[in-house]
Amino acid sequence: MNMRNLILVTGGAGFIGSNFILQWIEQESSLVLNLDKLTYAGNPRNLESVAAHPAYRFQQGDIVDRDLVGSLLQRERPRAIVHFAAESHVDRSIHGPDDFVRTNVNGTFSLLEEARAYWSSLPEAERDTFRFLHVSTDEVYGSLGPDDAAFSETTPYAPNSPYSASKAASDHLVRAYHRTYGLPTLTTNCSNNYGPYQFPEKLIPLIVLNACGGKPLPVYGDGQNVRDWLYVEDHCRAIRIVLSEGRVGDTYNIGGCNEKKNLEIVDTICELLDELRPNDPVVPHRNLIAFVKDRPGHDRRYAMDTRKIERELHWRPKETFETGIRKTVNWYLQHEDWVQDVTSGGYRQWIAKHYST
Ligand code: NAD
Ligand code: DAU
Repeated sequence: MNMRNLILVTGGAGFIGSNFILQWIEQESSLVLNLDKLTYAGNPRNLESVAAHPAYRFQQGDIVDRDLVGSLLQRERPRAIVHFAAESHVDRSIHGPDDFVRTNVNGTFSLLEEARAYWSSLPEAERDTFRFLHVSTDEVYGSLGPDDAAFSETTPYAPNSPYSASKAASDHLVRAYHRTYGLPTLTTNCSNNYGPYQFPEKLIPLIVLNACGGKPLPVYGDGQNVRDWLYVEDHCRAIRIVLSEGRVGDTYNIGGCNEKKNLEIVDTICELLDELRPNDPVVPHRNLIAFVKDRPGHDRRYAMDTRKIERELHWRPKETFETGIRKTVNWYLQHEDWVQDVTSGGYRQWIAKHYST
């Protein structure tokens, strides 16, 4: 039986996955099947605008469940798998690493095993065009000093958190499935994303929402840690390009070439909110900044060398940080219902537990 013009996306109800699906449906012609467990981080509301679209379907389920994944692949016969599903928050991985090993390592393993079985059953011509794209992170490379060269695709792995160690393990499994079995894999390692639909446990949405509510803005340690920020739509476009044009078996680093210290990020958001929300409970918003205990094993600096994807696939970020952060802050201000939804229930309990220690 032949492959269909359909891609299987895992973790498509999360932050990057939902941005990816929205962009895919706007820009591409293949159908999308979204397999997502709907953990605390998965929010079907992110995909409300395409829920009834003929090109989109949702299947709730766990990537660890091999029977489910295997039968889904046999029934749906996708031409590609784009694998976002993961536990993604470093702080949570420090408090409870189990789910990280379960989903990021065992889940990727089960997906690879079932993808291999499905791919092996395809006619030869289709085996050549099938793709397994694994979405990973710059954190697998460890931490840089202030003058170190940016991470390239050949930088040795040196993960420092349970999260990054679990992602590194999954990257190695993907590599091994290509080398050993010939599975046509692609891996992307990306820097920090920001934009719409990001769960407000991550720095940028957390700061926006706390600042609006007059709550403390927790800055870990001295606030001088550096991240390389990329607008999520640029990341999604890069994944689409790697999927269609990337060299099988290769990895591609993706980044914003936009290094900022955490304190600069917080200051920028506060300045924007001073302009956009002059009547908030505490103005200037930066009066809310609170330096708190540092994250254990906190990586000092990430930076991506993106010359490979620029040279080979002609991808470059389109959004500048100045335009991207303004768009992002405005998005959270204009989507009060979404914010209300995600900040109720489990998320509140997590915040209470996390920040009370
Ligand atoms: P997220 O936490 O917002 O979303 C993860 C999604 O995966 C959720 O919808 C969740 O329900 C789903 N999921 C979790 N466990 C699952 C399981 N066992 N089975 C099926 N679905 C499951 O994550 P994100 O920020 O959108 O990140 C997506 C991917 O991109 C991850 O692999 C992450 O490591 C990677 N990444 C993220 C960033 C970033 O800045 N956010 C940067 C680089 C790479
Ligand atoms: O680099 C890519 C990674 O970026 C992804 O792989 C991860 O999935 C994603 O969560 C993100 O990891 P970070 O740990 O860099 O993101 P986070 O938003 O948690 O933190 C960004 C920086 O801000 C980091 O140096 C820690 C700091 N921070 C974070 C929070 C939540 C604070 O100072 N205060 C906070 O409250």
